[in-house]
Amino acid sequence: MNRITIAIDGFSSCGKSTLAKQLAGHLGYTYIDSGAMYRAVALYVVENALVRDGTLDKAGLMQVLDGLDICFQHDPMTGRSATWLNGRNVEQEIRGMEVSRHVTLVSPVPEVRAKLVKLQQAFGKERGVVMDGRDIGTVVFPHAEVKLFMTARPEVRAQRRYHELKLKGAEVDLASVVENIAQRDLDDTTRAADPLTKATDAIEIDNSDITAEEQFVKALDIVLEVLARVGQE
Ligand code: DC
Repeated sequence: MNRITIAIDGFSSCGKSTLAKQLAGHLGYTYIDSGAMYRAVALYVVENALVRDGTLDKAGLMQVLDGLDICFQHDPMTGRSATWLNGRNVEQEIRGMEVSRHVTLVSPVPEVRAKLVKLQQAFGKERGVVMDGRDIGTVVFPHAEVKLFMTARPEVRAQRRYHELKLKGAEVDLASVVENIAQRDLDDTTRAADPLTKATDAIEIDNSDITAEEQFVKALDIVLEVLARVGQE
């Protein structure tokens, strides 16, 4: 059977990763969370004093960027893939608010994007991959056979993210989650390098009023249709 590339883009907390994991699990494909890679760079700059008074020390980051080792490894404890930075499992740390607040300092930097896009393209070289992010259908895999663009109303997204963080035991209030999501939407769509845009050939799914299961069925229908078509080519 032909293996394809599935690109899932959209705003923060739109259920992209839930859908990507469901599709990858169902199809036996590899799931790659591209946002985790930007989060790993953000963690690095926070931990290494490359952010001062909310400003990124870009020259300092440029000196170490080439040497940053970001990869994914199966974690036998959770049974899931975990993000590794320079030989250390950072899956927990990169999900916190501290990293969320700093990630849009590093994600607009063209050199950071160039490095991570290259890595992402290498991860997807063999196809059979589901990758989620902001520029997957437009920049990383412009020839992906399936491109989905996820949306949901901002208040729905904030509630989802708040519950997710609470479930993980984070000390967080809804107002700061709303503020963080609004700020990241603005940063993601207005940055000069590879801003978040819907690819012209992407199919939009608004999941504000549907369950994760309904969303999965919808997306799987789209994927199966494409698989049937490429199988005949
Ligand atoms: O998907 P996420 O919220 O974990 O992503 C974290 C940040 O990384 C987000 O604010 C935007 C950025 N990002 C990006 O610029 N390009 C991607 N392909 C994925 C994420």
